[in-house]
Amino acid sequence: MSAGWSWYVILLVVSNIIGCTALLWWTSKKAKGNEGTSHIWDGDITEYDKPLPRWWINLFYITIVFSIAYMFWYGGFGSYNGFSSWTSQSEHATQKAAGDARLAEAFRPYDGKPIDELARDAQAVALGRSIFTNQCATCHGSAGQGAIGYPNLTDTVWHWGGTPADILQTVLHGRNAVMPSWSEALTAMGGANAVEDVTTYVLWMTDPSLAATNGDAIARGRGLYANVCAACHGADGKGMTALGAPDLTDDYWLYGRSRAAIREGIERGRNGSMPAQEGLLGETRSRLAAAYVWTLSQQ
Ligand code: HEC
Ligand code: HEC
Repeated sequence: MSAGWSWYVILLVVSNIIGCTALLWWTSKKAKGNEGTSHIWDGDITEYDKPLPRWWINLFYITIVFSIAYMFWYGGFGSYNGFSSWTSQSEHATQKAAGDARLAEAFRPYDGKPIDELARDAQAVALGRSIFTNQCATCHGSAGQGAIGYPNLTDTVWHWGGTPADILQTVLHGRNAVMPSWSEALTAMGGANAVEDVTTYVLWMTDPSLAATNGDAIARGRGLYANVCAACHGADGKGMTALGAPDLTDDYWLYGRSRAAIREGIERGRNGSMPAQEGLLGETRSRLAAAYVWTLSQQ
């Protein structure tokens, strides 16, 4: 609050208090000694103008004193903070800290516990499920079934590894997949059809029947694959979990199984990003969510 506004508020508050006091003083004095209003009906019914009862007026003075004390204590005069230095922010901060401490207390039994141990504890799994629903379901689906670009977490296909330790690492620290665009490199190496040839080769890995009609394209694609793709996806196409490079032989396609989708990935690249959760949820709640996710693939 600028000094100008502060003084404006102080002026309003003080003039209101003075106004109230003056009004009260005035009304309590007014009729002393002359109570009649000279309104008389039916010859003998006289209207009086009596002051308010003394006890009532005194109560009113007490409320005025109270309001002044209140504003000195809590700070009602412009930007003056008051003796107590109370602010709604600090009260919110204390209450939030208390709430966080209660939450931490509730999750304390699970601190640092191994994922597979948590997965055997029904209560821990239930907590993990509710954390998942709040935090992960927006991307991975309410049942962890995934969507295009968001992995299915209920199957046994893991781009970043499916051991408890791998999953915990994924959840705590996030993962960033880097699949660059290959259209230039491929075209330079294998001509205008290179992208199409490699796409056909990738499709052949899960659909050997393509060999009957696309033998030449597959042979050209195989050479290009060995030069460019094998570095990450492996010579046999089995992928590499350290890089999050998918197994291309398992017929699970994060970005769709159509020729167009696979070709698009090779041409434009793919950069899936799993956000790190440790800063958002803290260690223990990330751990519980990871344990729940692990149970999904163990059934
Ligand atoms: C903003 C969207 C988003 C949110 C929120 C999110 N994820 Fe992910 N997650 C992704 C994406 C995208 C990937 C795939 C990254 C890639 O392309 O490899 C992923 C990957 C994963 C993987 C690795 C899958 C594999 O195949 O190795 C796990 C495990 C996972 N997420 C668990 C979780 C959990 C548990 C939560 C909640 C605590 C969560 N995610 C929240 C987007 C999200
Ligand atoms: C630098 C390492 C690297 C190289 C080289 C690379 N890729 Fe990838 N590729 C990845 C990563 C990492 C992903 C996962 C992207 C994601 O999750 O967003 C991926 C994803 C893909 C996908 C999508 C898979 C799915 O499940 O939808 C296809 C198809 C693919 N790559 C094919 C190729 C082909 C063909 C080549 C060679 C021309 C190639 N990649 C070269 C790292 C690489």
